[in-house]
Amino acid sequence: MLSTQASVKLCSQRQVAQLGLSVVKPVAALAAHARPILPAAQHQHNAPSGPRSFSTTSATQLRDFFPPKETNFIRRTPPAWPHPGYTMEEMLAVVPGHREPKTVGDWFAWKLVRLCRWGMDLATGLREGQQVDKKNPTTAVVASKPLTEAQWLIRFIFLESIAGVPGMVAGMLRHLGSLRRLKRDNGWIETLLEESYNERMHLLTFMKMCEPGWFMKMMIIGAQGVFFNAMFFSYLISPKICHRFVGYLEEEAVHTYTRCIREIEAGQLPKWSDEKFRIPEMAVAYWHMPEDHRTMRDLILYIRADEAVHRGVNHTLSNLNQKEDPNPFVSDYKTGKVQHKPQAALKPAGYEREDVIG
Ligand SMILES: [Fe+2]
Ligand SMILES: [Fe+2]
Repeated sequence: MLSTQASVKLCSQRQVAQLGLSVVKPVAALAAHARPILPAAQHQHNAPSGPRSFSTTSATQLRDFFPPKETNFIRRTPPAWPHPGYTMEEMLAVVPGHREPKTVGDWFAWKLVRLCRWGMDLATGLREGQQVDKKNPTTAVVASKPLTEAQWLIRFIFLESIAGVPGMVAGMLRHLGSLRRLKRDNGWIETLLEESYNERMHLLTFMKMCEPGWFMKMMIIGAQGVFFNAMFFSYLISPKICHRFVGYLEEEAVHTYTRCIREIEAGQLPKWSDEKFRIPEMAVAYWHMPEDHRTMRDLILYIRADEAVHRGVNHTLSNLNQKEDPNPFVSDYKTGKVQHKPQAALKPAGYEREDVIG
Protein backbone atom coordinates (compact mmCIF):
# COMPACT_ATOMS: atom_id res chain seq x y z
CA MET A 1 0.00 0.00 0.00
CA LEU A 2 1.16 3.51 -0.74
CA SER A 3 1.35 6.02 2.00
CA THR A 4 -0.50 9.25 1.44
CA GLN A 5 2.83 10.97 1.23
CA ALA A 6 4.00 8.66 -1.52
CA SER A 7 0.77 8.87 -3.44
CA VAL A 8 0.82 12.64 -3.41
CA LYS A 9 4.13 12.47 -5.25
CA LEU A 10 2.28 10.90 -8.16
CA CYS A 11 0.91 14.33 -8.83
CA SER A 12 2.48 16.80 -6.48
CA GLN A 13 0.66 19.31 -4.34
CA ARG A 14 3.06 21.92 -5.65
CA GLN A 15 2.19 21.16 -9.22
CA VAL A 16 -1.52 21.25 -8.58
CA ALA A 17 -1.09 24.43 -6.56
CA GLN A 18 0.31 26.09 -9.64
CA LEU A 19 -2.97 25.53 -11.38
CA GLY A 20 -4.64 27.74 -8.84
CA LEU A 21 -2.21 30.49 -9.74
CA SER A 22 -2.98 30.18 -13.40
CA VAL A 23 -3.82 33.08 -15.65
CA VAL A 24 -2.74 35.85 -13.39
CA LYS A 25 -2.80 37.94 -16.54
CA PRO A 26 -6.57 37.74 -16.69
CA VAL A 27 -7.80 40.64 -18.76
CA ALA A 28 -5.65 40.17 -21.83
CA ALA A 29 -5.82 36.39 -21.67
CA LEU A 30 -9.56 36.31 -21.18
CA ALA A 31 -10.08 38.75 -24.01
CA ALA A 32 -7.87 36.69 -26.28
CA HIS A 33 -9.85 33.54 -25.61
CA ALA A 34 -13.28 35.05 -25.30
CA ARG A 35 -15.67 34.01 -27.97
CA PRO A 36 -19.43 33.83 -28.25
CA ILE A 37 -21.47 30.67 -27.79
CA LEU A 38 -21.70 29.07 -31.19
CA PRO A 39 -23.42 26.07 -32.68
CA ALA A 40 -21.37 22.93 -32.22
CA ALA A 41 -19.82 22.70 -35.68
CA GLN A 42 -18.95 26.38 -35.86
CA HIS A 43 -17.67 26.34 -32.33
CA GLN A 44 -15.25 23.56 -33.12
CA HIS A 45 -14.13 25.26 -36.26
CA ASN A 46 -13.27 28.39 -34.36
CA ALA A 47 -11.52 26.72 -31.46
CA PRO A 48 -7.96 27.95 -31.09
CA SER A 49 -5.36 25.51 -32.25
CA GLY A 50 -2.67 26.29 -29.70
CA PRO A 51 -2.46 25.34 -26.03
CA ARG A 52 -3.68 27.78 -23.40
CA SER A 53 -1.20 28.95 -20.83
CA PHE A 54 -1.91 27.55 -17.39
CA SER A 55 0.65 29.23 -15.32
CA THR A 56 2.72 32.35 -15.08
CA THR A 57 5.36 30.40 -13.22
CA SER A 58 8.36 28.91 -14.97
CA ALA A 59 7.45 26.73 -17.94
CA THR A 60 9.80 24.06 -16.69
CA GLN A 61 7.66 23.63 -13.59
CA LEU A 62 4.47 22.86 -15.48
CA ARG A 63 4.93 22.00 -19.11
CA ASP A 64 2.22 20.95 -21.50
CA PHE A 65 2.37 17.17 -21.27
CA PHE A 66 1.27 16.62 -24.87
CA PRO A 67 1.31 19.83 -26.91
CA PRO A 68 -0.28 19.63 -30.37
CA LYS A 69 2.20 18.80 -33.09
CA GLU A 70 2.89 21.71 -35.38
CA THR A 71 3.01 20.75 -39.03
CA ASN A 72 3.19 22.73 -42.23
CA PHE A 73 -0.27 21.86 -43.49
CA ILE A 74 -2.48 20.68 -40.63
CA ARG A 75 -4.28 23.37 -38.67
CA ARG A 76 -6.19 21.21 -36.22
CA THR A 77 -7.46 17.64 -35.79
CA PRO A 78 -11.07 17.59 -34.60
CA PRO A 79 -12.48 14.75 -32.46
CA ALA A 80 -13.57 11.65 -34.37
CA TRP A 81 -16.80 11.50 -32.37
CA PRO A 82 -18.04 15.05 -31.70
CA HIS A 83 -19.66 15.28 -28.28
CA PRO A 84 -23.45 15.80 -28.44
CA GLY A 85 -23.28 18.32 -25.57
CA TYR A 86 -25.61 18.70 -22.58
CA THR A 87 -27.81 21.43 -21.22
CA MET A 88 -27.27 22.51 -17.61
CA GLU A 89 -30.66 20.99 -16.72
CA GLU A 90 -29.63 17.62 -18.13
CA MET A 91 -26.40 17.64 -16.15
CA LEU A 92 -28.06 18.68 -12.89
CA ALA A 93 -30.66 15.94 -13.31
CA VAL A 94 -27.95 13.29 -12.97
CA VAL A 95 -28.06 11.59 -9.58
CA PRO A 96 -26.16 8.74 -7.98
CA GLY A 97 -28.14 5.55 -8.25
CA HIS A 98 -27.85 1.81 -7.95
CA ARG A 99 -29.29 -1.19 -9.70
CA GLU A 100 -30.09 -3.93 -7.25
CA PRO A 101 -28.35 -7.16 -8.26
CA LYS A 102 -30.96 -9.62 -9.49
CA THR A 103 -28.99 -12.58 -10.78
CA VAL A 104 -25.89 -14.41 -9.63
CA GLY A 105 -23.99 -12.72 -12.45
CA ASP A 106 -25.18 -9.28 -11.25
CA TRP A 107 -24.11 -10.07 -7.72
CA PHE A 108 -20.68 -11.24 -8.90
CA ALA A 109 -20.19 -8.07 -10.99
CA TRP A 110 -21.27 -5.83 -8.11
CA LYS A 111 -18.98 -7.49 -5.57
CA LEU A 112 -16.08 -7.33 -8.00
CA VAL A 113 -16.59 -3.60 -8.46
CA ARG A 114 -16.71 -3.11 -4.69
CA LEU A 115 -13.46 -5.06 -4.39
CA CYS A 116 -11.86 -2.82 -7.04
CA ARG A 117 -13.07 0.24 -5.14
CA TRP A 118 -11.56 -1.04 -1.93
CA GLY A 119 -8.24 -1.70 -3.70
CA MET A 120 -8.29 1.76 -5.26
CA ASP A 121 -8.88 3.46 -1.89
CA LEU A 122 -6.02 1.44 -0.44
CA ALA A 123 -3.63 2.10 -3.30
CA THR A 124 -4.20 5.84 -3.33
CA GLY A 125 -3.76 6.07 0.42
CA LEU A 126 -7.20 7.38 1.40
CA ARG A 127 -7.38 7.98 5.11
CA GLU A 128 -10.21 6.69 7.22
CA GLY A 129 -12.10 9.99 7.31
CA GLN A 130 -11.72 10.48 3.57
CA GLN A 131 -13.67 7.38 2.66
CA VAL A 132 -17.38 7.60 2.13
CA ASP A 133 -19.86 5.81 4.38
CA LYS A 134 -19.04 2.15 3.82
CA LYS A 135 -22.33 0.98 5.31
CA ASN A 136 -24.17 2.67 2.50
CA PRO A 137 -21.88 2.16 -0.48
CA THR A 138 -24.49 2.54 -3.19
CA THR A 139 -25.40 6.17 -2.63
CA ALA A 140 -22.90 7.66 -0.17
CA VAL A 141 -21.15 10.75 -1.53
CA VAL A 142 -20.16 12.49 1.68
CA ALA A 143 -17.05 11.90 3.76
CA SER A 144 -15.93 13.62 6.93
CA LYS A 145 -12.66 14.79 5.37
CA PRO A 146 -12.32 16.09 1.80
CA LEU A 147 -9.67 14.95 -0.64
CA THR A 148 -7.10 17.47 -1.81
CA GLU A 149 -6.99 18.59 -5.44
CA ALA A 150 -3.89 16.43 -5.91
CA GLN A 151 -5.61 13.36 -4.48
CA TRP A 152 -8.60 13.91 -6.73
CA LEU A 153 -6.39 14.15 -9.81
CA ILE A 154 -4.56 10.95 -8.90
CA ARG A 155 -7.87 9.11 -8.67
CA PHE A 156 -9.28 10.65 -11.82
CA ILE A 157 -6.23 9.88 -13.93
CA PHE A 158 -5.87 6.32 -12.70
CA LEU A 159 -9.58 5.54 -13.01
CA GLU A 160 -9.99 7.13 -16.42
CA SER A 161 -6.99 5.24 -17.76
CA ILE A 162 -8.86 2.04 -16.81
CA ALA A 163 -12.31 3.25 -17.86
CA GLY A 164 -11.30 3.53 -21.52
CA VAL A 165 -10.54 -0.19 -21.76
CA PRO A 166 -13.87 -2.11 -21.64
CA GLY A 167 -15.64 -0.21 -24.44
CA MET A 168 -12.70 -0.82 -26.77
CA VAL A 169 -12.46 -4.52 -25.87
CA ALA A 170 -16.21 -5.05 -26.23
CA GLY A 171 -16.36 -3.08 -29.48
CA MET A 172 -13.37 -4.95 -30.87
CA LEU A 173 -14.76 -8.36 -29.95
CA ARG A 174 -18.18 -7.58 -31.41
CA HIS A 175 -16.50 -6.28 -34.56
CA LEU A 176 -14.46 -9.47 -34.90
CA GLY A 177 -17.53 -11.56 -34.07
CA SER A 178 -19.48 -9.86 -36.85
CA LEU A 179 -16.68 -10.55 -39.34
CA ARG A 180 -16.27 -14.12 -38.18
CA ARG A 181 -19.93 -15.05 -38.08
CA LEU A 182 -20.81 -13.07 -41.21
CA LYS A 183 -23.61 -11.37 -39.29
CA ARG A 184 -24.58 -7.79 -38.67
CA ASP A 185 -23.94 -6.23 -35.27
CA ASN A 186 -27.09 -4.08 -34.92
CA GLY A 187 -25.39 -0.88 -33.85
CA TRP A 188 -23.51 -1.87 -30.70
CA ILE A 189 -19.95 -1.46 -31.93
CA GLU A 190 -20.01 2.29 -32.54
CA THR A 191 -21.56 3.05 -29.14
CA LEU A 192 -18.95 0.94 -27.38
CA LEU A 193 -16.04 2.47 -29.24
CA GLU A 194 -17.44 5.94 -28.69
CA GLU A 195 -17.64 5.21 -24.97
CA SER A 196 -13.95 4.33 -24.84
CA TYR A 197 -13.14 7.44 -26.88
CA ASN A 198 -15.13 9.57 -24.45
CA GLU A 199 -13.30 8.03 -21.47
CA ARG A 200 -9.98 8.79 -23.11
CA MET A 201 -11.05 12.41 -23.48
CA HIS A 202 -11.70 12.45 -19.72
CA LEU A 203 -8.20 11.13 -19.15
CA LEU A 204 -6.55 13.62 -21.52
CA THR A 205 -8.43 16.48 -19.88
CA PHE A 206 -7.09 15.57 -16.44
CA MET A 207 -3.63 14.95 -17.86
CA LYS A 208 -3.58 18.60 -18.91
CA MET A 209 -3.80 19.44 -15.22
CA CYS A 210 -1.28 17.04 -13.77
CA GLU A 211 1.65 15.18 -15.22
CA PRO A 212 1.93 11.77 -13.56
CA GLY A 213 5.23 10.68 -12.10
CA TRP A 214 7.01 7.45 -13.00
CA PHE A 215 5.30 5.46 -10.25
CA MET A 216 1.85 6.46 -11.45
CA LYS A 217 2.83 5.59 -15.02
CA MET A 218 3.97 2.14 -13.90
CA MET A 219 0.69 1.62 -12.06
CA ILE A 220 -1.26 2.59 -15.17
CA ILE A 221 0.72 0.22 -17.41
CA GLY A 222 0.32 -2.65 -14.95
CA ALA A 223 -3.37 -2.03 -14.43
CA GLN A 224 -4.03 -1.87 -18.16
CA GLY A 225 -2.18 -5.14 -18.75
CA VAL A 226 -4.27 -6.92 -16.15
CA PHE A 227 -7.59 -5.27 -16.93
CA PHE A 228 -7.39 -5.60 -20.73
CA ASN A 229 -6.70 -9.32 -20.56
CA ALA A 230 -9.29 -9.93 -17.86
CA MET A 231 -11.91 -8.04 -19.84
CA PHE A 232 -10.94 -9.77 -23.10
CA PHE A 233 -11.44 -13.28 -21.77
CA SER A 234 -14.43 -12.36 -19.60
CA TYR A 235 -16.23 -10.76 -22.56
CA LEU A 236 -15.74 -13.92 -24.62
CA ILE A 237 -17.32 -15.94 -21.80
CA SER A 238 -20.13 -13.61 -20.65
CA PRO A 239 -20.67 -10.23 -22.29
CA LYS A 240 -23.80 -9.84 -20.15
CA ILE A 241 -21.85 -9.91 -16.91
CA CYS A 242 -19.17 -7.65 -18.40
CA HIS A 243 -21.72 -4.97 -19.31
CA ARG A 244 -23.20 -5.27 -15.82
CA PHE A 245 -19.72 -4.88 -14.34
CA VAL A 246 -19.17 -1.72 -16.38
CA GLY A 247 -22.62 -0.47 -15.33
CA TYR A 248 -21.62 -0.86 -11.67
CA LEU A 249 -18.23 0.70 -12.33
CA GLU A 250 -19.97 3.72 -13.82
CA GLU A 251 -22.25 3.91 -10.78
CA GLU A 252 -19.09 4.36 -8.75
CA ALA A 253 -17.87 7.01 -11.17
CA VAL A 254 -21.11 8.98 -10.78
CA HIS A 255 -20.79 8.73 -6.97
CA THR A 256 -17.19 9.86 -7.10
CA TYR A 257 -17.81 12.87 -9.34
CA THR A 258 -20.88 13.83 -7.34
CA ARG A 259 -18.76 13.90 -4.21
CA CYS A 260 -16.15 16.02 -5.98
CA ILE A 261 -18.82 18.51 -7.10
CA ARG A 262 -20.11 18.75 -3.53
CA GLU A 263 -16.63 19.43 -2.20
CA ILE A 264 -16.07 22.15 -4.78
CA GLU A 265 -19.43 23.72 -3.93
CA ALA A 266 -18.62 23.55 -0.23
CA GLY A 267 -15.40 25.49 -0.84
CA GLN A 268 -13.24 22.56 0.24
CA LEU A 269 -11.19 22.63 -2.97
CA PRO A 270 -10.16 26.29 -3.05
CA LYS A 271 -7.79 26.02 -5.98
CA TRP A 272 -10.57 24.72 -8.19
CA SER A 273 -13.20 27.15 -7.05
CA ASP A 274 -10.86 30.12 -7.49
CA GLU A 275 -12.42 32.30 -10.15
CA LYS A 276 -9.06 32.64 -11.87
CA PHE A 277 -8.77 28.91 -12.34
CA ARG A 278 -8.97 27.92 -16.00
CA ILE A 279 -9.89 24.49 -17.29
CA PRO A 280 -8.03 23.06 -20.31
CA GLU A 281 -8.93 24.49 -23.71
CA MET A 282 -9.26 20.94 -24.99
CA ALA A 283 -12.20 20.37 -22.63
CA VAL A 284 -13.90 23.62 -23.62
CA ALA A 285 -13.73 22.61 -27.27
CA TYR A 286 -14.74 18.96 -26.79
CA TRP A 287 -17.83 19.56 -24.63
CA HIS A 288 -18.74 22.83 -26.39
CA MET A 289 -18.76 24.51 -23.00
CA PRO A 290 -20.52 27.89 -23.06
CA GLU A 291 -18.51 30.92 -22.05
CA ASP A 292 -20.20 31.34 -18.68
CA HIS A 293 -19.89 27.66 -17.77
CA ARG A 294 -16.21 26.88 -17.80
CA THR A 295 -15.36 26.39 -14.16
CA MET A 296 -13.93 23.19 -12.70
CA ARG A 297 -17.38 22.46 -11.26
CA ASP A 298 -18.87 22.76 -14.75
CA LEU A 299 -16.22 20.46 -16.16
CA ILE A 300 -16.95 17.79 -13.54
CA LEU A 301 -20.68 18.18 -14.26
CA TYR A 302 -20.03 17.37 -17.92
CA ILE A 303 -17.85 14.40 -17.08
CA ARG A 304 -20.34 13.10 -14.52
CA ALA A 305 -23.09 13.28 -17.13
CA ASP A 306 -20.93 11.19 -19.48
CA GLU A 307 -20.47 8.61 -16.73
CA ALA A 308 -24.21 8.55 -16.14
CA VAL A 309 -24.72 7.81 -19.84
CA HIS A 310 -22.24 4.93 -19.68
CA ARG A 311 -24.00 3.65 -16.55
CA GLY A 312 -27.42 3.59 -18.19
CA VAL A 313 -26.12 2.24 -21.50
CA ASN A 314 -24.16 -0.63 -19.99
CA HIS A 315 -26.88 -1.70 -17.56
CA THR A 316 -29.32 -1.67 -20.49
CA LEU A 317 -27.00 -3.61 -22.81
CA SER A 318 -26.59 -6.20 -20.10
CA ASN A 319 -30.37 -6.68 -20.06
CA LEU A 320 -30.53 -7.43 -23.80
CA ASN A 321 -30.07 -10.50 -25.92
CA GLN A 322 -26.40 -10.07 -26.78
CA LYS A 323 -26.58 -11.80 -30.14
CA GLU A 324 -29.78 -10.49 -31.67
CA ASP A 325 -31.09 -7.31 -30.09
CA PRO A 326 -30.38 -3.97 -31.76
CA ASN A 327 -28.74 -1.17 -29.79
CA PRO A 328 -31.74 0.84 -28.52
CA PHE A 329 -29.68 4.01 -28.12
CA VAL A 330 -29.01 4.43 -31.84
CA SER A 331 -32.24 2.95 -33.23
CA ASP A 332 -35.27 4.63 -34.77
CA TYR A 333 -38.56 3.59 -33.18
CA LYS A 334 -41.85 2.68 -34.79
CA THR A 335 -44.32 5.53 -34.44
CA GLY A 336 -46.51 5.19 -31.39
CA LYS A 337 -44.36 2.57 -29.68
CA VAL A 338 -41.81 4.77 -27.98
CA GLN A 339 -42.16 8.51 -28.15
CA HIS A 340 -38.49 9.34 -28.01
CA LYS A 341 -35.12 7.71 -27.71
CA PRO A 342 -34.14 6.26 -24.35
CA GLN A 343 -32.29 8.66 -22.06
CA ALA A 344 -29.49 6.61 -20.57
CA ALA A 345 -28.23 9.33 -18.21
CA LEU A 346 -31.54 9.48 -16.38
CA LYS A 347 -31.88 5.71 -15.91
CA PRO A 348 -29.33 4.70 -13.28
CA ALA A 349 -30.49 1.09 -13.39
CA GLY A 350 -30.77 1.01 -17.19
CA TYR A 351 -33.84 0.05 -19.25
CA GLU A 352 -35.37 -3.38 -19.04
CA ARG A 353 -35.50 -5.29 -22.31
CA GLU A 354 -39.29 -5.06 -22.62
CA ASP A 355 -39.12 -1.26 -22.35
CA VAL A 356 -36.83 -0.71 -25.30
CA ILE A 357 -37.09 -3.82 -27.48
CA GLY A 358 -40.64 -4.89 -26.71
FE1 LIG B 1 -14.71 8.74 -17.33
FE1 LIG C 1 -17.13 6.04 -17.37
